[in-house]
Amino acid sequence: MSDSSPVAPSPSPSGARRPLAVLVTGAGGEMGHGLLAELSKRAKRSDLHVVAIDVRELDDASRKHVHQVAVGDICDRSLIDRLQAQYEIVEIFHLAALLSTRGEYVPETAHQVNVVGTVNLLRLAADEARSHGQRVKFFFPSSIAAYGLPNLATKRAAGTVSEDQFLEAHTMYGVNKREGELLGNYYANHYKKLAKDRLDRPIDFRSIRFPGIISADTVPSGGTSDYGPEMIHAGAAGKPYACFVRPDAKIPFMTMPEAIDAVLRLIDAPAEKLTRMVYNVTSFSPSAEDFANLVRGAFPGAQITFNPDLQRQSIVDSWPEDIDDSAARRDWGWTPAHTLKSAFEEYLVPRIRARYR
Ligand code: SER
Repeated sequence: MSDSSPVAPSPSPSGARRPLAVLVTGAGGEMGHGLLAELSKRAKRSDLHVVAIDVRELDDASRKHVHQVAVGDICDRSLIDRLQAQYEIVEIFHLAALLSTRGEYVPETAHQVNVVGTVNLLRLAADEARSHGQRVKFFFPSSIAAYGLPNLATKRAAGTVSEDQFLEAHTMYGVNKREGELLGNYYANHYKKLAKDRLDRPIDFRSIRFPGIISADTVPSGGTSDYGPEMIHAGAAGKPYACFVRPDAKIPFMTMPEAIDAVLRLIDAPAEKLTRMVYNVTSFSPSAEDFANLVRGAFPGAQITFNPDLQRQSIVDSWPEDIDDSAARRDWGWTPAHTLKSAFEEYLVPRIRARYR
């Protein structure tokens, strides 16, 4: 297999050339919202089309960054086949997923979307590599949900956790993210091991285990780290907020611009620098009480109370309070842009205040 980029259009079975494309699944979600503008700038430089898939039409702000939106389900093979017939896909950002809280109400549906959907996209990437002869870059956002610490005492004793520890996830979403990481390795290195016509290493799979992400522009839904962003947005909007975890609950977080920066740094890093397929990144690890104090300081009318939901709390207690991101720092220059204080003062408070004015 030759390496990715630059790539030249190859003829489709009809003889016509398919335009080169970057495919983004779950493009209408929180990360898609932040990533599309950057991908569209990057795609223009390389003459690529940005093609989005989402179960809903994109809002106008996102729509303007993409060439086409395919409204539909990533489990629908005919939708994927149609896109494949139209475009020569050279990069995939597979963001679509059902998150950790929602997934616990409908675990089998979560498995369908999060794993079967991922296999569909990985197969598409391998097929495309065969068709145009270039390794397809595949970005997969994994999560701290891939970790599963057995109890709070172990979590507290463990402190900062490396990529290879405590991987017995407690949620269907976490199990699915771990499976996505392993499937990525399979498709990248071992796909169709015994087939006579197998392609060597069709996919360049790269993944980040994200902590909770906080955006000033969007509010998450269906996740368990949502208490952080929900508290900040409620404080700014002057709405009371009952936090669903204990004040001492602690997991890592980062801002959305830092998450987008991490995706682009990893995807653009030279392959020979990478020593792993899956990297931790993090910026700060506040307790829920730390968040509440900063929100009260920034928005003096904020009414924050704590009313822990024991089941959602148990999910947070199974996630590490901090993660070791030294491999990302060493291999591809990851550096957080913010501390908790600067994230509030320089990014969250000014942007969120303007949003709810
Ligand atoms: N934000 C996600 C969730 O809470 C974790 O990756 O489900």
